[in-house]
Amino acid sequence: MKVLITGGAGFIGSAVARKLIDRGDKVVMIDNFNDYYDPKLKRDRIATILKDCEYSLHEGNIQDLEFCQAVFAKEKIDKVIHLAAMAGVRSSLEDPLLYEEVNVRGTNVLLEMAVKYKIKNFVYASSSSVYGNNKKVPFSEEDRVDTPMSPYAATKRATELIAHTYSHIHGLKTTGLRFFTVYGPWGRPDMALFLFTDKITKDEEISVYNFGKMSRNFTYIDDIVSGTITTLDADLECEIMNIGGDKEETLLRFIEVIEENIGKKAKKNMMPIQPGDVPSTVADISKLRALGWEPTTRIEEGIKNFIDWYKEYYKK
Ligand SMILES: NC(=O)c1ccc[n+]([C@@H]2O[C@H](COP(=O)([O-])OP(=O)(O)OC[C@H]3O[C@@H](n4cnc5c(N)ncnc54)[C@H](O)[C@@H]3O)[C@@H](O)[C@H]2O)c1
Repeated sequence: MKVLITGGAGFIGSAVARKLIDRGDKVVMIDNFNDYYDPKLKRDRIATILKDCEYSLHEGNIQDLEFCQAVFAKEKIDKVIHLAAMAGVRSSLEDPLLYEEVNVRGTNVLLEMAVKYKIKNFVYASSSSVYGNNKKVPFSEEDRVDTPMSPYAATKRATELIAHTYSHIHGLKTTGLRFFTVYGPWGRPDMALFLFTDKITKDEEISVYNFGKMSRNFTYIDDIVSGTITTLDADLECEIMNIGGDKEETLLRFIEVIEENIGKKAKKNMMPIQPGDVPSTVADISKLRALGWEPTTRIEEGIKNFIDWYKEYYKK
């Protein structure tokens, strides 16, 4: 099977690519290596995680119809895992137009290609942020999600609605994955685990928002990879699935585990919640579990793996 992974140099994309190659699939990747965070980390992921692997990589923008057309025409793609996006909640408040262009138009271009080139299954990244300030926990796919709290969340919800129309009109198989806070080695420098580790290591103060009263279903990268591939293989007609860890963790416990692994106490600056942020994201994962998937990594193990990687990569 030949699988196109958009955002293949990304945190999740590179890990999914490795797993697919290991099991014998052919992998084609698209990435534009933008500088939302250090592009060197993206290049290093490819060079290290995909060392000695065979794959093809196309550098360009997913919102560029001609570029995508050329990739689909050249490669004989069976299925798509669409992960490329502008992915930061906070930065979407600063540049909402870019988020709309990449996340909404980019996804729409790929859906057009998927229909034209008869793609057998189109799995795409949505986000737990679509639940906005949902008061009912755990968050279920059945809950109403029409109160996004950031431009990012709104673009992710828009892609779910657009994917639905492609399934409805063209019979394209689509599965939207609502990822819940992903972490692990090679993780994104704009996310809490990376920022906290970096600052604690350098004896700098960390900002703890909502005075630490945040909780998340942190999800380890390997569990995200196995869940994504489970849905890739399942070929569902038109679905949306939560994909999150099964244990609700507070931000303060998360920080405690980081401190234990670095061997240093954090200097905490307790702050109010930031605009666009949500205090709690807890996932109901029964739908994905019904396909045989199970998250297996606890934060004690996952954070250790991250910090081991961080120390090695940055030679700390
Ligand atoms: N990491 C998380 O906790 C999390 C949570 C919810 C949803 N998601 C979603 O999962 C997906 C992957 O996230 P990630 O954490 O791996 O992010 P990432 O930023 O590491 O990966 C995204 C990749 O897409 C590429 N890209 C961005 N814009 C592009 C464009 N216009 N054309 C081509 N390539 C482009 C980037 O260069 C990057 O390598 C994203 O859609 C994100 O919104 C992630």
